[in-house]
Amino acid sequence: MKILGISGSCRKDETSGVYRLVQSVLENTGMEYELVSLRGKMISGCIACLGCVTDNVCKVKDDMESLRDKIVEADAYVIGAPNCYSTLNAVTHAFLERWFQFRHQEGNLLWGKLGVAVGVGGMDGRLPAADIEKFFLYSFIETVAAVTGQGAASCYTCGYGETCGVGVPTMLYGEGVKITPDMVPNVVKQPDVMKAAVDAGRLLGQRLNAGHERSQVTLRMQAKMMERLGKSAE
Ligand SMILES: Cc1cc2nc3c(=O)[nH]c(=O)nc-3n(C[C@H](O)[C@H](O)[C@H](O)COP(=O)(O)O)c2cc1C
Repeated sequence: MKILGISGSCRKDETSGVYRLVQSVLENTGMEYELVSLRGKMISGCIACLGCVTDNVCKVKDDMESLRDKIVEADAYVIGAPNCYSTLNAVTHAFLERWFQFRHQEGNLLWGKLGVAVGVGGMDGRLPAADIEKFFLYSFIETVAAVTGQGAASCYTCGYGETCGVGVPTMLYGEGVKITPDMVPNVVKQPDVMKAAVDAGRLLGQRLNAGHERSQVTLRMQAKMMERLGKSAE
């Protein structure tokens, strides 16, 4: 059993809340894992060329090529993304769009696997986590847990955070805010968030150890997808 972890943050691993949470989830699975950061990777969105329809292999030449085998070989995924404009950031969205290559023909390269969705936002991490869960559902992957937290928006360190009228410090604390180190959000200072990451990792490890039946998960996710589309699964 092997788990693929993806941190979609564009910030350095050591300052990224997404990276920290994805890492914590992975560590607590008790399983073999690989954690890949999308930081600095050049990954375009799906270009709808349909080059993948016969063999399930995307023909776009970029950094996604080296990730394809890791995705196929993994038994589960822990994917995290920062909130950018109330949705996934671009590179994580592009990365997940390219999973279109797995959807053709038999289409079951990913079906019935398990996933954990991680989201971090300067205000709120729930929206990117929900987006990741939606992408999982399209591949009939069950989201066993979502972990969300508040991270440090760049406004705390850009140099204008105390005066910028549209910056997060002003939005959260009002005009005239004085930025002090203790007010800068960091997931490691949020015990409930760090506990959620530990719990999510343990749950994912338990589900994988229990020898989950991919075909059963697939059926349930297909039904959920049909429900989402407002149709019967029959
Ligand atoms: C271009 C951009 C847009 C952002 N938009 C939002 C937003 O709409 N809502 C929010 O809560 N945080 C937003 N943020 C803040 C990030 O989500 C926050 O910095 C988060 O901690 C990033 O995760 P990381 O620490 O793993 O890099 C935005 C940041 C950037 C760079």
